Amino acid sequence: MPSTEIKNICCIGAGYVGGPTMSVIADKCPHLHIHVVDIDEQRIKAWNSKNLQDLPIYEPGLDEKIKKCRDINLYFSTEIEKNISNADMVFISVNTPTKTKGIGAGKASDLKWVEACARQVSKYASGHTIVVEKSTLPVKTAEVIKIILEDAQLNSQNSKTTFDVLSNPEFLAEGSAIEDLENPDRVLIGGENIEAINLLSEIYLNWVAEEKILHTNIWSSELAKLTSNAFLAQRISSINSISAICEATGADVREVSRAIGSDSRIGSKFLDSGPGFGGSCFKKDILNLVYLCEYFGLPEVAKFWEEVIEINKWHQHRISKLIVKKLFGTVSGKKISILGFAFKANTNDTRESAAIVICKDLIEEGALLSIHDPKVDKYQIEKDLGIKLNLNEESKSEDHSYKSKGGWTYAPSIKKSLIGADASIILTEWNEYGNIDWNMAKKIMRSPSWIFDARSILIPEKVKNAGLNLWRIGDGSN
Ligand code: UDX
Ligand code: UDX
Repeated sequence: MPSTEIKNICCIGAGYVGGPTMSVIADKCPHLHIHVVDIDEQRIKAWNSKNLQDLPIYEPGLDEKIKKCRDINLYFSTEIEKNISNADMVFISVNTPTKTKGIGAGKASDLKWVEACARQVSKYASGHTIVVEKSTLPVKTAEVIKIILEDAQLNSQNSKTTFDVLSNPEFLAEGSAIEDLENPDRVLIGGENIEAINLLSEIYLNWVAEEKILHTNIWSSELAKLTSNAFLAQRISSINSISAICEATGADVREVSRAIGSDSRIGSKFLDSGPGFGGSCFKKDILNLVYLCEYFGLPEVAKFWEEVIEINKWHQHRISKLIVKKLFGTVSGKKISILGFAFKANTNDTRESAAIVICKDLIEEGALLSIHDPKVDKYQIEKDLGIKLNLNEESKSEDHSYKSKGGWTYAPSIKKSLIGADASIILTEWNEYGNIDWNMAKKIMRSPSWIFDARSILIPEKVKNAGLNLWRIGDGSN
């Protein structure tokens, strides 16, 4: 039986979801004690760092929450055992990467971490514990967690250990996580035991209106999360495919977006054409959906969703190819400034960023990239590209040894990235890129210079009036 009150919460996984989610719950529910645990000691150390600039993830407004709640009712540690044992409610918020080998490789999610967490909970929990799955998971994962916990219950010496499993997928988007958590469109809770559902609902009721808290069965909840991401990604693939037709026909994708978005049945959000969607969820969740469809004998449905990913891949390479074409068919030995490496603005997350694909393509063509991003550090870029940093831009590039084969340097400022560049490509919509002084850029770049605005954040006249060539995504006048 669930206890009548939740006091202690443990969240396993201090990542982009677990960290912000628990910070907001701690802020809204000062009566709760929340312990966020992780196996990664470095990450926990960063969450506990005195200087709030050193938190492991960048998310607007997160530092304020941490400042207010940390060590008051929000704690970060590696003490997994103890905190599971004390908890009335355990959130599982670990990552679920796509399987790289075995059955379902390349598509299905690897549930090894979720399974490991369920085993930890079954081993260390005491009394009645409500287990809440927060990670995005294939449909019927809650069942796996339940089986592990029930098995533990059967074999336990301590007959007082009991469990309930709920699915409570998180819909926050990175870069606006705190805002999304504070004002969610809905909170979804899937489960069987109404008492457990009510106890979780009570937490959200501290700041979310009752009508926004939806109760479903556990599988609808799991499937709703996958479907939600698949629909959002599908919209982006749809508009990106139209951007290519716009460029070919003289239409303008912004005008098309505005026109179709004014139809209240379609709506205006998620219709910005860009360099292709990235992030840790869209691709992974669609692949999961594809795998499930194949598993349940629905190959036509699988093919339908797979195409959303295929178009995204095609679109990213399409951008690299047209850059090469515009630069007289070759980028070999040319300096190209890359503005933005994160998969979207206001985050330091680079997972599945379109910038990774486009930068790799250009390096392969022999380009010398000078990469700038206000929040992504050079070690992360090096890891993502799998190519060693040639030179730090600050150390000045007198060493030309790498110039014949292509490579990249890290630019500590926009200006350093632009000096001597033949082209600049905007890949992330950071605000500061919208305010670049293009007259200054014209003076320091090599002529004829090109600006490629893959995010549609520039005012075309400002760029063109400075004497620069401009290409914009989905612009038929390019
Ligand atoms: C989240 C969701 O949980 C995932 O399902 C979704 O699809 C993507 O977003 P996220 O928070 O972004 O994951 O992942 P990440 O930033 O990688 O954080 C996961 C954390 O879990 C890591 O810090 C990792 O060290 C930790 N972890 C993993 C554990 O503490 N224990 C484990 O057994 C495995
Ligand atoms: C997404 C979902 O929005 C969120 O609900 C879920 O919980 C996790 O996955 P996230 O990946 O953090 O969130 O960011 P999102 O804002 O959805 O952007 C994903 C990608 O799509 C980014 O690369 C973004 O630049 C791109 N995008 C988004 C577009 O290209 N055009 C748009 O109009 C919107």
